[in-house]
Parts: sequence; structure tokens; C-alpha cells
Amino acid sequence: MQNIHDQRLLVVDFGSQYTQLIARRIREAGVYCEIHPFDIPEIFIAEFAPSGVILSGGPETVTEGQTPRIPQSLLELGVPILGICYGMQAVATQLGGRVQGSNRREFGHASIEMAAPSDLLEALELADGSIDVWMSHGDKVTTLPDGFVCTASSESAPIAAMENVERKIYCVQFHPEVTHTTQGAALLGNFARKICGCNATWTAANIVEDAISQVRQQVGDDHVVLGLSGGVDSSVVAALLARAIGSQLTCIFVDNGLLRKGEVHEVEQAFSNEAGVGNALPLTIKTVDARDEFLSKLEGESDPEAKRKIIGALFIDVFEREAKALTGVRWLAQGTIYPDVIESAASKYGKAHVIKSHHNVGGLPERMELGLVEPLRELFKDEVREIGLHLGLPRSLVFRHPFPGPGLGVRILGEVRRDYAETLRQADDIFLEELRAAGLYDQVSQAFAVYLPVKSVGVVGDARRYEHVIALRAVETIDFMTARSARLPYELIEKISNRIINEIETVSRVVYDISSKPPATIEWE
Ligand code: XMP
Repeated sequence: MQNIHDQRLLVVDFGSQYTQLIARRIREAGVYCEIHPFDIPEIFIAEFAPSGVILSGGPETVTEGQTPRIPQSLLELGVPILGICYGMQAVATQLGGRVQGSNRREFGHASIEMAAPSDLLEALELADGSIDVWMSHGDKVTTLPDGFVCTASSESAPIAAMENVERKIYCVQFHPEVTHTTQGAALLGNFARKICGCNATWTAANIVEDAISQVRQQVGDDHVVLGLSGGVDSSVVAALLARAIGSQLTCIFVDNGLLRKGEVHEVEQAFSNEAGVGNALPLTIKTVDARDEFLSKLEGESDPEAKRKIIGALFIDVFEREAKALTGVRWLAQGTIYPDVIESAASKYGKAHVIKSHHNVGGLPERMELGLVEPLRELFKDEVREIGLHLGLPRSLVFRHPFPGPGLGVRILGEVRRDYAETLRQADDIFLEELRAAGLYDQVSQAFAVYLPVKSVGVVGDARRYEHVIALRAVETIDFMTARSARLPYELIEKISNRIINEIETVSRVVYDISSKPPATIEWE
């Protein structure tokens, strides 16, 4: 089997919010790449032996002395280098050109004109000699370093692109990684494939094949346990391990009473023998009915953080108990994905924001002396989805909206009660059913109902109703760090509201949440 990691690019991160997009575009071109911070040690660069290097943008200015620089050994590696925005300015500064600082930022669409023939830009289709690009910068290169030619210009950046073919260094002031740059993906593909000479081996089929052989090698004949949550990541891990080790895997699916309607059935169905996920070997799913345990522990507790802690700790207890009941388990499989890995690596350098740990099962691996199997560690979410489909998982599971670990526990404001959970499940189901029917489910990033235990008066038929309120929340977001409420059609919201009030006796009013994040968060607790 070919080694799909053999040819790889190194994406050097100077702290741009777009760095992950660069890596995703390169992977989409079929080439493996990794993101590492700019201050990686020389020894790492030598061992990594990239076929090419991409320098990201960044928030700093090279006009100040203490700001990040390109490691000298990278500049001397002799492989092609692509500098983007800050990466271009760093190249200019370090190789003898000049960069002019500015407090005024150029942000948004710009048009660039070709200034000279270019190996990098030749892939771009020119509409009347110009290319639509996305700019986001203050500083700009004003004097070329020795040996460089200017290959493109824009009105505000006369040196919008430059290259030194002999040294194989190519630079652009704009951002080819964002979709607003027409042909940006083509430019990055051209760099990875033609200039760096990499083959397009990074495909779903190859990734799956590679992951299967790695898992087999890692676990041998041992037994593996996996916490299946119904979310995309753990489902794809299950499908992958089913192919790799089949009956050596046991999935534990904890029904905590806070799942969405039909979730247990849907997950069991997706992995049933009839579904036969991608020629998988038989898979054992142990569904644990822990509804009473969770709901009784939550009784009387209304503080959001305390509820989260109770749910998290109990999950670990239940999972550990069930896993210990299995014999000979040596490994715990987890759905850790590449952005989690980047975030935790970057935090060593003190510049990452803190994110919630979504699927990691607390301190279980140490407590139970288990090794970790993380077959999705190298993959972005869109790659996880792609291999999920490749493995035969249903679209409904693969493109499912994210669902928080504490489930409906953080969507029932205040005390969690069984009857509230039941009402919320029904309302949520109606909301999502109508959203799907309107063809809008895949257009929004996350949609759900929230239970507000405040009483409100209504009239249904001739009768007065004095019951609780349901809030509907639908958001659009790229990264879940910021979000805006989805502008769903009024008629649709009205229809959903009517259905919820008419079909669920315990609801007297429905509201739609239009808050953005920030200042609000996506979840209500
Ligand atoms: P917030 O509410 O922080 O949510 O804007 C951002 C994203 O994270 C999910 N979320 C959670 N996921 N455990 C999780 O596994 C949690 O405690 C949790 N809280 C929020 C939320 O659904 C959204 O996708």
C-alpha cells in the first residue's frame, strides 16, 4: 500500500484565523499537510521533511522587532515556499526587501492584475486580465528582495504577489484560502501538486485504508471500547473500527434520558447488521439504559455548571462500570479530530483560546489503564464526514447538527425533569422535521428547541392554557465561536409554532431566539 503521508506540506502558523482553511484547501487538492506553529524546532523541520512549506498570515507586523519570523532552516530547506500575507511580509523582511507598516487595513474584495508571467498564478483563469481576490492586511511590501519579481499588482498593493523561481519562493498578499478569492483553491492546488510535485493520494478511500491498517497494527488482537454518542465523530470511529477490527470492538451507548427523540433507535439502526456499514464486520453495541440514574441525580439541581458536572461525572461512572464488565479491554477509542489536536498543541505556545472538550471521556484512560485509539486525529470535520459517507453511514447521521455532551440537560433551563425532557424532545422533533421538510436543515449549522419553565397564558380551542414556553434557536456559523441567528422564513416559524402548541398540551407559547454570538452563546445554558 502506498504511504499517504510520504509527500506532505508543512503549514507554518503565524496565528491567522484562516490557517486551518489553508490546510483544508491543500487536503482538498489531495495532498496531506500539517499545521505547526512558527517556532517549531529545527530538528522537527528536518524530520518532517516537507515537500513544500506554506507560511500563513498573522495578526502581527514585521515592522516591529519582536514579532514572529520564519525559522532560518526553513528558508534554507530548498523546497518550494508559499508565503501568504504576513508570510509574504516576513519573506520580504528576512530576505532584504522592505515592508511598510500602516494602521489602515485593506479588508475585502480587490482586483489584481498580472504584472509578469508566474508559475504560481498561471493556473488562474483570468477574466479580462484580472483576478478577484480577498485582502486583509495593513502592512505591505514596498521593495522587492533581491532576485524576486513582482507578478501581480492591485490598486492599493503594487506588489500584490512576488516570486523568486530560482529559490522556489512564491508570495501573495491576498488570501487564496478563503472562498472569496476566486480560483484561490486552484492556486493552492497548483502550488501543492505542480510546484511541490505532490501526487493526489489524500483521498477518502486511501485515508480509510491507511487508518484501518494503522489501527490493526496498534491494537493487534486486543479488545477496544468506544463511547458511542450518536454524534458524527464517534459514529465514524465506530464505522472505521468495525471495518478494521469488527468483533474486537464494543461500543457503549449511554442513554442518559437527555437524548433527542428516536436517537437510540437511529444509532442502533445505522449500525445494525442489515445496514452493513461499508462491509463492516459485526459490531457490538451495548446500549445502557441509565435514564433513571441521570434524572434522579439531577433532581433539584438548577445551576447550569453544576448540572454539567453531574452529567459529565455520571457519564464517566456509567461508562467505566460498563467497560469494566467487559473482559480484556486494553484500549479506549475516541473521536478526537485534527482541530482539537491543533488547539491543544498551540496552547503550549500560549496563543490558543480555550475550547470545550467535547468528546473526550475525562480521565478514563489513566483510571482504567487504557491506551488511546484515535483514528480521526489527523482529520478535519469535513474529511471525517467524507469518510463517514465512504464507509456507508447514512447522510442523516453524517450531516447531523452538533449536539452538546450534556444533551437536553443544558436545553432545559433550571431543574431538569423527566416530563420537561419529554416535552422538549417532542418540540425539538417537530422543529427539525419541519426544517428538513423545508430543505433548510443543511443550510443552518445548528437548530434546536429550548425548554423555558416560565408559565404563560394561551387559548387553545375554547380552553385557557397556562403552560410553559418553548424557544427555537437556529444559527449559522463557520466555527461555532461566533454565530448569527438564522433568518428562517416567518411562515415556517409560524407553522412550527402552531404545530408545537397544537400537538403538545404542555406548551402554551413559542418564541424565536434572534441573539447573535457574541454576546449570547449558542446554547442557553
Ligand atoms: P456555545 O453555547 O458555547 O456553544 O456557544 C458552542 C458549541 O458547543 C456546543 N456546546 C457543548 N458541547 N458540551 C459539549 O459537548 C458542552 O457542555 C457544550 N456546551 C455547548 C454547542 O452545542 C455549540 O455547538
